Amino acid sequence: MSLGSPGRGALRRIYQEVAPRYELVNHLLTLGLDIRWRRRAARVAVASEGGSWLDVCSGTGEMAAELHRAANRAITVAAFDLSVPMLVRARGKRRLRPDAFASGDVAHLPFRNGTFTGVTIAFAARNLNTSRRHLEIRLRECFRVLIPGGRLINLETSQPESRLWRRLFHHYAALTVRPLARTVSGSRSGYAYLAHTIPRFYSAAELDEMLFAAGAARVTHIRLWGGIAALHIAEKAR
Ligand SMILES: C[S@@+](CC[C@H](N)C(=O)[O-])C[C@H]1O[C@@H](n2cnc3c(N)ncnc32)[C@H](O)[C@@H]1O
Repeated sequence: MSLGSPGRGALRRIYQEVAPRYELVNHLLTLGLDIRWRRRAARVAVASEGGSWLDVCSGTGEMAAELHRAANRAITVAAFDLSVPMLVRARGKRRLRPDAFASGDVAHLPFRNGTFTGVTIAFAARNLNTSRRHLEIRLRECFRVLIPGGRLINLETSQPESRLWRRLFHHYAALTVRPLARTVSGSRSGYAYLAHTIPRFYSAAELDEMLFAAGAARVTHIRLWGGIAALHIAEKAR
């Protein structure tokens, strides 16, 4: 399922436009659920292990901050993103900010094979899904930089199994995302694109398959709020 997403240049422009109010718009649209879900993803990710983590598509660094908050041992977190204006905001965080920053496309991560204990992706797989093949290539690249047995944690909107709940969720997204985002952030095109991707993204089971195809040896997922979002935990072979 291709989402007809914009190319890298257009994505950079979108995130340059939305960066100043990105966090506020997200928190308003999800009624704060995005914060709780990142926190849960971080607990799943680092509760039992330290090590070095890579947060790809890190944006303003909220997931990276949650990894630091959840860790009960020393960890390092590197933030990687296409958009420099988004990373500048991550760098500006006073506390719990990432330890290192790099900019580029996930398709070509500037790290050696087996560098990281874990990789996180939060609310960005829809962006990486310029086509199913491209998403798989980018997920494969994330597995490449993981150590054997390392885990890729993906948090993303998903498709509820209940048809009624799914329709309500898609209606909510269609009715609220564009007007609210336009009013709060002033960005018309950025959120039009982001809203467009929500009903078209994969179900949790489809994403399981893609993670296996990209190199996972084991995949589990947790449906959040009846499946409007899903947390995937994919382990690289040992
Ligand atoms: C919706 S934001 C998510 C930010 C953050 N992870 C969060 O939890 O809010 C998506 C981010 O993915 C980045 N992005 C999109 N495509 C990318 C790519 N191909 N490579 C690296 N980053 C990308 C964007 O610049 C943006 O910062």
